[in-house]
Amino acid sequence: MKKPEIRIVTEHKKEYLPLLLLGDEMESNIDKYLERGELFALFDPDLKSVCVVTDEGDDTLEIQNLATDERYQRRGYASKLLNHIFDHYRNRYSRIILGTGDTPGILSFYSRFGFSVAGREPDYFTKLFNHPIYEDGVMLRDRVLLEKDLAIIREALARPADIFIGTPSI
Ligand SMILES: CC(C)(COP(=O)(O)OP(=O)(O)OC[C@H]1O[C@@H](n2cnc3c(N)ncnc32)[C@H](O)[C@@H]1OP(=O)(O)O)[C@@H](O)C(=O)NCCC(=O)NCCS
Repeated sequence: MKKPEIRIVTEHKKEYLPLLLLGDEMESNIDKYLERGELFALFDPDLKSVCVVTDEGDDTLEIQNLATDERYQRRGYASKLLNHIFDHYRNRYSRIILGTGDTPGILSFYSRFGFSVAGREPDYFTKLFNHPIYEDGVMLRDRVLLEKDLAIIREALARPADIFIGTPSI
């Protein structure tokens, strides 16, 4: 059986819109980062997950969008994509950040990868949308800002005795 394949998409990025809208329901928002960001797509053998990452300056990346086709969630696709992304950037950036809804499922998902809470934007979702947004049955109100130090991986690799294999727990 063929292994899942991850590609960086450089052309016709808007063809990925249906899946991107699952990670960010505002198309006008997606338009703001899609072209300047790097779009990663995981195929197994057809499209399963997408992720858009932008360079925010100051050695910092931002995950703008992460989504897995609803029919194929909880099979490890987003985890595979994220691990690939950390690997892809770890020598060039020191920090990766993102903003997400305050739901236990998503927060536990990101904590598995060593993300920690860096801040909170009160009423972000209630101000942005003129209708309530629900995720996992939770009405989204605040946006939680998460960050992860990519340099930790870099330093660990530079010191073979300290190599850490697996996902750090926080
Ligand atoms: C978050 C998302 C990208 C995860 O994709 P995925 O391919 O299912 O992720 P993985 O299979 O690698 O990891 C699944 C883990 O995520 C967490 N998780 C994801 N959805 C969850 C849910 N609804 N409830 C609880 N935990 C959830 C769990 O820790 C789960 O691990 P488990 O199956 O061992 O319990 C996917 O649920 C999604 O597309 N959601 C809608 C868009 C979104 O919310 N994007 C993130 C905003 S930044």
